[in-house]
Amino acid sequence: MSGQVRPNIEVFSEPSALAQAAADLFVKTACKALDTRGRFTVAVSGGRTPRLLFDCLVRLDEARSLPWSLCHIFWVDERYVPVTDPASNFKMANESLLKPLGVAQANIHRISTEVDVEDTVAQYEAAIQSVFALKPGEVPQFDLIQLGMGADGHTASLFPDSYEVDAERFVAWTVPPVAPHRRITLTPSVLQAASQLMVLLTGKDKAAMLQMVFSGVEDPMKYPIQLVWPVLERVVWLMDEEAASEL
Ligand code: 6PG
Repeated sequence: MSGQVRPNIEVFSEPSALAQAAADLFVKTACKALDTRGRFTVAVSGGRTPRLLFDCLVRLDEARSLPWSLCHIFWVDERYVPVTDPASNFKMANESLLKPLGVAQANIHRISTEVDVEDTVAQYEAAIQSVFALKPGEVPQFDLIQLGMGADGHTASLFPDSYEVDAERFVAWTVPPVAPHRRITLTPSVLQAASQLMVLLTGKDKAAMLQMVFSGVEDPMKYPIQLVWPVLERVVWLMDEEAASEL
């Protein structure tokens, strides 16, 4: 990371402490957006780690008391599977966060995988355009984007050597090497436009890749998580000791 901003890394010995820190950042970012713009837009990822955050949020009074009718929940990515499929990122978030908090349907902008994948992309882009009231050429600026990282360095559904950068698009579909083999994802330009990003990382399986990502060459095609390098000052990395063990 030659000459880069130093990454803002926080390491936690206990998953519960990591979850609390993530939930606190979520609430802090939400309150700031609500105070300054009267609403909060957030995009969450799938996988295991967001569950820690969601479980903490539903127990946190400060989160429960947020004006959820002024909050808009989107997904960073989704697997191209039915909403009833255990692999569905929407299913996990809906069951662990949105239903328990009573978030209204109007505030939930899921990636609708019932239609052809191209139409799924178009419909999600249209939803983003609408909620953000974008003018031509504008990129949606989420108040918060929560990312994870796979052991292969992927983030969102942007996998090594298997995505394209198209600054004109907000949403794309990809064909990752791991099942489900079709996924819908926010594009790099949308990730990089966020006001605040948090990357949640747990587990020993991330350690070697994290060491390479932070100390190796800068190559976002090979290490997609490095797409946040241009905006590192807006990224908080929350990780457990296992994930951080080779830094
Ligand atoms: C997904 C996620 C994906 C995730 C990483 C890390 O749909 O699977 O968006 O990018 O963030 O795979 O997942 P963990 O949280 O399980 O480590």
